[in-house]
Amino acid sequence: MRSFKKLLAGTALCMTSALILPVQAADARDEAGKLLFTKGAVPACAICHTLEAAGAAGAVGPSLDELQPDAERVRKALKNGIGVMPAFPLLTEEQIEILTTYVARASRGQ
Ligand code: HEC
Repeated sequence: MRSFKKLLAGTALCMTSALILPVQAADARDEAGKLLFTKGAVPACAICHTLEAAGAAGAVGPSLDELQPDAERVRKALKNGIGVMPAFPLLTEEQIEILTTYVARASRGQ
């Protein structure tokens, strides 16, 4: 009986963490995206772009809050550059994934 209770408690714990962990992971990725946007990418996106969620107020490029690019559009700009915006060949594929998802979500471009 005792061990059955333990088993139940263990199962409940597992189920709870299964529910909580994905949320924490999403938060961590959001935080990583924000860091890349404000500091990690060189030159930082925030120097040139406004994105309220990141506390960025750059005015060289378009406001991303207004443009609301989807992840694919952000990816193209990062890969090829556009106008005076340089390409970002030093970002790893994982960083690009995190950054494009973040910008699309934060600007509500999805
Ligand atoms: C040196 C300034 C500068 C930096 C740094 C910069 N951008 Fe840009 N960005 C621009 C300008 C200017 C444009 C508009 C280019 C045009 O349309 O001619 C632009 C355009 C864009 C666009 C719209 C592309 C389209 O299809 O219209 C996105 C999305 C974007 N930037 C995201 C980023 C992200 C993310 C970063 C950081 C990794 C970044 N930018 C860094 C200046 C910059």
